[in-house]
Amino acid sequence: MKFFVDTADVAAIKELNDLGMVDGVTTNPSLILKSGRDILEVTREICDMVEGPVSAEVVATEAKDMIAEGLKLAKIASNIAIKVPLTWAGLTACKAFASEGHMVNVTLCFSAAQAILAAKAGAKFISPFIGRLDDINLDGIQLIEDIRTIYDNYDFDTEILAASIRNVNHITEVARIGADVITAPPAVIKAMANHVLTDKGLEQFLADWAKTGQNIL
Ligand code: E4P
Repeated sequence: MKFFVDTADVAAIKELNDLGMVDGVTTNPSLILKSGRDILEVTREICDMVEGPVSAEVVATEAKDMIAEGLKLAKIASNIAIKVPLTWAGLTACKAFASEGHMVNVTLCFSAAQAILAAKAGAKFISPFIGRLDDINLDGIQLIEDIRTIYDNYDFDTEILAASIRNVNHITEVARIGADVITAPPAVIKAMANHVLTDKGLEQFLADWAKTGQNIL
C-alpha cells in the first residue's frame, strides 16, 4: 500500500518523507489556502522533495479551462498528477490529459458509478472520499470495497486512492480491502504509531528499569 500525505505543509511532508513514509502528496484548494502559499511555488517545492506523484488541483469548471490550468500545473514537474473533479467536464479533461500521457487524479468521487467513469476516462487515480460519506451517515468503507470489486472484475488499471481519511481505522480498513493508496493528513499517519498498551507497557518497563539501578550508556 502506498502512502500519500494530504497536505501542502512542506515541513510536515519533509518530516514524513525523511522517514521514507511518503510515496506521494495530494493537495487541494482548501489545503493551499491553509498553507498560505502560492500554489505554483509550494507545489514546485513539494515536487522537488518528493519522488512520487504530487496532485495539484484545477479550479476551472469548464473542460477547456481545466485543460489550460492542468497543462500549466503539469509544467511544474514531471511528477505532477493533475487533479480534476468528478464532473462531466472533469472527465473530459481527464481523457485529454491521459491521452497526452499525464497522470490524472479524479477527485470528489462518492459512488461506484463515478469510479467506473473515471477508469474509462483513463484516470491514474480515483479518489473516493471516505470521511465525507461517513459525515452524512453513508458508508465510505463499503464504497472502497465496491470499487475494488468492480475494478478487479474488469482489470481496470486505475488505482484506488482512498481519500478524506479521518482516523487510523479508516486506513486499516481500506488496507484490508485492498485500496492501492491512502492519502491522509500527517497527524493521522503519525497516530498509526499510537497504542494505549504500548504506552502502558513502556511505562512499566521504565519503572522496573529504574529499580535495577543500571545504565546502558
Ligand atoms: C484528497 O485528495 C483530498 O485532498 C482530501 O482527502 C479531502 O479530505 P477532507 O474531506 O478531509 O477535506
